[in-house]
Amino acid sequence: MKYIVAIIRPHKLEDVKKELLKEEVHLMTITEVLGCGRQQGITEVYRGVKEVDNLLRKVKLEIAVNDSFVERTVDAIMRSSREGEIGDGKIFILDLEECIRIRTGERGGEAIG
Ligand SMILES: Nc1ncnc2c1ncn2[C@@H]1O[C@H](COP(=O)(O)OP(=O)(O)OP(=O)(O)O)[C@@H](O)[C@H]1O
Ligand SMILES: [Mg+2]
Repeated sequence: MKYIVAIIRPHKLEDVKKELLKEEVHLMTITEVLGCGRQQGITEVYRGVKEVDNLLRKVKLEIAVNDSFVERTVDAIMRSSREGEIGDGKIFILDLEECIRIRTGERGGEAIG
């Protein structure tokens, strides 16, 4: 199992969700966050707006998946969030040790989706 954490542009969220649904990835946690990339916000220009604060608004998606879903999840996020501009975001893939559905006590792959 893997825990996929993706930081994306906020306005991409609906497109990303749509692409994830196409891949049967429905379970996710979404948080509004502030982030700093390697340009430290200062030189990030997007749609003509130059950001001056070094913390930019981003959206964080967290998705726990079985190994067989990793690539399709990453591909869906990539194709729906990439614009080819600085600040497009980043995807982190972490090993996930365990997952427990509290209601039933199921564990692992059974509990994840
Ligand atoms: N190494 C990191 N650790 C934690 N969060 C990060 C890291 N790199 C990027 N992020 C998060 O992702 C957001 C978007 O990063 P961003 O796309 O600007 O990355 P970048 O490395 O600067 O690449 P680019 O040159 O394409 O802009 C940041 O605002 C931050 O929230
Ligand atoms: Mg950046």
